[in-house]
Amino acid sequence: MDSDYDKLLEIARRRRSIRVFKPDPIPDGHVEKILEVARWAMSGANGQPWEFVVVKDKDTRAKIYELYKAHRRFVDVIERTRIEEIRQPITGAVDEGVPLFKDAPVIIVICGDPRTLQATVMAAQFVGGERETFHMNIANATMMIHLAAASLGLGTQWATTTVHFEAGLKQLLGIPQIYKVPQVVPVGYPDYTPHGAWRRKLSDIVHNEKFDMSRYRSDEQIVADIIALRKRMKAHYRPTSETPRQ
Ligand SMILES: Cc1cc2nc3c(=O)[nH]c(=O)nc-3n(C[C@H](O)[C@H](O)[C@H](O)COP(=O)(O)O)c2cc1C
Repeated sequence: MDSDYDKLLEIARRRRSIRVFKPDPIPDGHVEKILEVARWAMSGANGQPWEFVVVKDKDTRAKIYELYKAHRRFVDVIERTRIEEIRQPITGAVDEGVPLFKDAPVIIVICGDPRTLQATVMAAQFVGGERETFHMNIANATMMIHLAAASLGLGTQWATTTVHFEAGLKQLLGIPQIYKVPQVVPVGYPDYTPHGAWRRKLSDIVHNEKFDMSRYRSDEQIVADIIALRKRMKAHYRPTSETPRQ
């Protein structure tokens, strides 16, 4: 039988960001199972800032998707100011009619209450750490959501918000102003087969005892690596002829 470690590694490797979904509903109880795992995430001083708005209603999902499309167009305008090789491959996908998470049957809206930061040591809040601690806490719960969904055979996307998207979500869903809404996570069955995942090799990222400067990447190398990454990832974002629909 697989050890716990084997199972954990298998789920960590199998989980992929999914950006186009089938409309098929997900089994009853799966969202609750996913959020039960998220609840056990770590947070600074156990402040647990996270709360989740689970949206299944078709009309509300459609409104969220409209907000997302406007957000994408805003992001795309800025993204197009960068050289093409380094742009996010998703740039322009909305205008090309890629449905992205339009058909996802569930959207988990990740909310966080910054007042919970008072649980953390004061120094963390005054020495530039406030936003970092908050976002680290929320990211931990979000990661748990992605892993739990993968363990149930579901696909998820981490869709980061920008100010307009966040404001629209708060208004649409009645989320109190004091809350932050840093990302939404559409959940459902993938409508395409994502390409194999790629990660930097362990031998490139682990330093024994001291940082090995022979592996320090120059500024030029970082950019070259991002360009290589983009080439590798291009088809990850879109169900094109290269990534056949299931
Ligand atoms: C902090 C953070 C923000 C992200 N924002 C987005 C996003 O806005 N849209 C999106 O499609 N994916 C987003 N992702 C997913 C990453 O692009 C994805 O994890 C990465 O490309 C690796 O691919 P994989 O998840 O398939 O392994 C985000 C991930 C993280 C951790």
